[in-house]
Amino acid sequence: MQYNWIDKPFRSKCLKVELSSFSSNDIAYLFRSMSPIPLEAVDFHAIHRFAPRLDANQIWRASLQLQLEDVESTDTFLAFLEDHALTSNVNQEEVAQVSLDDLYGIEEVRRQLEINLIVPMERGDLVEEYKISPKRGVLLYGPPGTGKTTIGRALAHRLGSKFFLLDGTVISGTQQFYYEIRRIFAQAKANAPSILFIDDCDLLFENATETGLYRYLLTILDGLESKSNEQVTIMLTAMNIGSLPPALIRSGRVELWLETKLPDLSARTRIVQAQLDGLKLALEDEEAESFAAQAEGLTGSDLKRVMTDARNLHAYHLAKELPLERPIHYYEKALQQLLDHRRQLAEAPAFTAAHRPGRTK
Ligand SMILES: Nc1ncnc2c1ncn2[C@@H]1O[C@H](COP(=O)(O)OP(=O)(O)OP(=O)(O)O)[C@@H](O)[C@H]1O
Ligand SMILES: [Mg+2]
Repeated sequence: MQYNWIDKPFRSKCLKVELSSFSSNDIAYLFRSMSPIPLEAVDFHAIHRFAPRLDANQIWRASLQLQLEDVESTDTFLAFLEDHALTSNVNQEEVAQVSLDDLYGIEEVRRQLEINLIVPMERGDLVEEYKISPKRGVLLYGPPGTGKTTIGRALAHRLGSKFFLLDGTVISGTQQFYYEIRRIFAQAKANAPSILFIDDCDLLFENATETGLYRYLLTILDGLESKSNEQVTIMLTAMNIGSLPPALIRSGRVELWLETKLPDLSARTRIVQAQLDGLKLALEDEEAESFAAQAEGLTGSDLKRVMTDARNLHAYHLAKELPLERPIHYYEKALQQLLDHRRQLAEAPAFTAAHRPGRTK
């Protein structure tokens, strides 16, 4: 506890009493004395493991709500706390539909996340018995559109109040982003063990050099590391590891490197089939496979886009009462359009150079 604000002459004469954070017995006592229902079946050791930094204000606010809900067991009580006392800076409604099951071809990434983050965060019983702990730093890297942000959203959904997000939206559009960042770090610490997900950290750090934000972030990250009791896992995403600040890599903070790769044929087929599910403009299984085979080199994001383009094209034909084609043709046309677009983009620098004003032929 800081007490430097006390003037020097008084400091030596003060009786310094330090208040530590609540033990599981304290939490049990406070809840039981404030709550209108008995909470006899709730295991407060488990609650304390899950939310070791609950403060009296949170307990009081949660207690006010208690009569309204069926929260007698430990599990329902935890769910209740998630809703009423603990906070993430991610809107749970926004991520409610996102799950790791919706991403195909990332089985190994998913397994590593289960081993190194999810089990150590969710299974307090195993943490105590086997002394396991989540990794302190995880880097998720891979080409654009391969599911990095979606993995974060799925984790936000899965881990609820244990997940905190720092991305471009925090920094853009406000003068007070230093304050905002510090607040998010503080919340992550207060809810430890927790995850602080820094999305597109390469871009964040790149744009941040001038503002000093990069140094500021590194200092806070260092602070997190020096306090071993503050179990905040830093999870970073980046498109290109080559562009990451060397200090970040050197620091040893990143303990686990996970790559999201372009989906292979089997993953592409599953993405295509998932996109077709329940929608019009269906394909036969063999057609879906052949289409996925033609889509080599596309990311999950590209595939989704192409399939939406195909449906748009089909709807246009319907609206204008144009002659209709077989569904596969719409998909193939949309794919061709994306490939053409890519080729044009790749050729753009040469094209621009050739047509620069003042250039003589
Ligand atoms: N392997 C996959 N399986 C299913 N859907 C995928 C897969 N990869 C990406 N997608 C979908 O593509 C879209 C974009 O993915 P996301 O934004 O997570 O990519 P990203 O890696 O964060 O990209 P960027 O580097 O541009 O930020 C999402 O709708 C996501 O569901
Ligand atoms: Mg992203």
